[in-house]
Amino acid sequence: MENKGKFYITTPIYYPSDKLHIGHTYSTVVTDTIARYKRLCGYDVMFLTGTDEHGQKIEEKAKAAGVTPQQFVDNIVEGEGGIKDLWKLMNISNDRFIRTTDDYHVESIQKIFRAMYDNGDIYKGHYEGMYCTPCESFWTESQLVDGKCPDCGREVKPAQEEAYFFKLSKYAKPVQDLLESGEFLEPRSRVNEMVNNFIKPGLEDLCVSRTSFSWGVPVDFDEGHVVYVWVDALFNYMTALGFMNDHYNDYDKYWPADVHMIGKEIVRFHSIIWPAFCMSMGLPLPKKVFGHGWLLLDGGKMSKSKGNVVDPYLLAERYGVDALRYFLIREFPLGSDGNFSNETLITRINTDLANDLGNLVSRTVSMVIKYFGGSLPAEREAAEVDNELVSMASGLREVYAGHMDKFAPQQAVAEVLKVIARANKYIDETAPWQLAKDEANRIRLATVMYNLLESIRICAVLLQPVMPGSCEKIFEQIGACEGCRTWDSAAVYGSLRADVTVHKGDTLFPRIDLKKELEELEKLNAPKLPESKPVLPDVTIDEFAKCDMRVCKVLSCETIKKSEKLLKFQLDDGSGKPRQILSGIRKFYPDPEALVGKTVVAILNLPPRKMMGQESCGMLLSAVKEIDGKEELRLLMLDDSIPAGAQLG
Ligand code: MSP
Repeated sequence: MENKGKFYITTPIYYPSDKLHIGHTYSTVVTDTIARYKRLCGYDVMFLTGTDEHGQKIEEKAKAAGVTPQQFVDNIVEGEGGIKDLWKLMNISNDRFIRTTDDYHVESIQKIFRAMYDNGDIYKGHYEGMYCTPCESFWTESQLVDGKCPDCGREVKPAQEEAYFFKLSKYAKPVQDLLESGEFLEPRSRVNEMVNNFIKPGLEDLCVSRTSFSWGVPVDFDEGHVVYVWVDALFNYMTALGFMNDHYNDYDKYWPADVHMIGKEIVRFHSIIWPAFCMSMGLPLPKKVFGHGWLLLDGGKMSKSKGNVVDPYLLAERYGVDALRYFLIREFPLGSDGNFSNETLITRINTDLANDLGNLVSRTVSMVIKYFGGSLPAEREAAEVDNELVSMASGLREVYAGHMDKFAPQQAVAEVLKVIARANKYIDETAPWQLAKDEANRIRLATVMYNLLESIRICAVLLQPVMPGSCEKIFEQIGACEGCRTWDSAAVYGSLRADVTVHKGDTLFPRIDLKKELEELEKLNAPKLPESKPVLPDVTIDEFAKCDMRVCKVLSCETIKKSEKLLKFQLDDGSGKPRQILSGIRKFYPDPEALVGKTVVAILNLPPRKMMGQESCGMLLSAVKEIDGKEELRLLMLDDSIPAGAQLG
């Protein structure tokens, strides 16, 4: 096949702060579909995805979980059921996966930051304004909406610190020109939003370093500063190719990116800030940024804090990865928002996949087996009734490519489904069961079967980017050889061998009982109450009062050599003398240092006991709970304003 040149496509790199949901999955499945389409067409594709692991949000989450930021992100990225696992499950065909904590990336970011400092585009100043931690975005008072972040609607915090700034204002004019001319940003509707809301009111210089936390790429010429997470994140698209590092060597081959696929809320970063950075570095600009819409739930944004996130693992497990991928592509126009619901998902699977496609394949294969023992005779006898189906199937590749090339996979797939519907109608029109009654119709019947198989084949070639696994199964059932699964073959009606042999296979897409399934899902999604242990026998108030429980401050906390379980605490219990308590909670607090200064509760009047040769005087109170099937323990922590020695009761 002719090599059509290179195609470099990227997803956003995801924050490993929570488990990813169906909205994130949508973003990646869409990108994967386009990457697979381009490969099918004969492009040399580089498809990049990854994780955006630095920043205040991650640092805060790690602290709350009592682990180091690196342990925190490692678990979400590489751990069981983590981001890499999710992409494997969803059959994502990325060629590369970048983590912004990778050494080579950190090294490049430091060099890039210095290069922009050396060329005068980064300078030192003082930042005073608002910061949205979940979005890692700076805002001025006038940009806030009702005092909240204009992107996500959450609380912002005042931020005041010495900081480096990037001369974004210098690039206002060239960026506006870029947005207004050509096809850099799509859909075009987003151009006005960017120009009117951000550029025309005056682009301010951008704060590009932070000093109030440390989880980031250090500015190597000014201790205490870390590079702003969006500088670190945006340049991933280049560092992953080897820009300013020796880890990879593909920058010259693949840059500029052909398309950055991203969600609409980060269009501002990609279409204003990112080209300005590239201009400052004197580098070619990416060719296109495509801002897709959001998947909404009940008309609103999905978010962990609202507790309304849809779990892609659960859906893929119940309906199959391909059915889920198909739904995401077929249901939602790429540029606009769409409302997710279990009912539309199941209905779409039942109608398009079980009834139309699955049924067409299984009926056709069964008829070829029933009437011809599985192999068709090679002779043909055409009839007028064949023309419409043959012409639709023959022209399908062109129509499909027209939509795909405009980033409209939903429409491309809808065209394929039209041919499938037409083929089902063709079965009714030709009534093969009637033809089969008379041996004289044998060749005519074989022709009908061949037209059905050939239409299925062309549809399956074009559905491969969306449902790679299922199309493979279809090819096997209809006896399609390697050569008639290709892009070229989709434009050649008659590629399937005339004397093709079919094979009966399993049902491709089982029908789902909508009502029963919705009830099941409701049960699964109902909040699970933790199993509570029976309440213990009563104690009298006097008995309870015998437990001396006091507020303590953690003075130090360290591991004990040779003990995998124990942590050794020195506590201020208000007596003026430090108290030592040993606690078997090491696995829940891998970063003991992080506990120093915390306000905890201990029972003081338990008899002292020795563990690993050390004395423990009392016991720290903790709570145990099962989270996602794993036992989790947290120390009881109180408001830091409560003084050491305060008695509980
Ligand atoms: N880390 C930044 C991106 C840096 S790229 C240099 C980020 N990460 S994210 O994890 O918050 O979001 C990743 C992608 O998921 C974004 O494109 C975002 O739009 C997309 N989605 C998150 N929720 C979504 C929906 N509900 N629907 C569709 N896409 C959604 O932003």
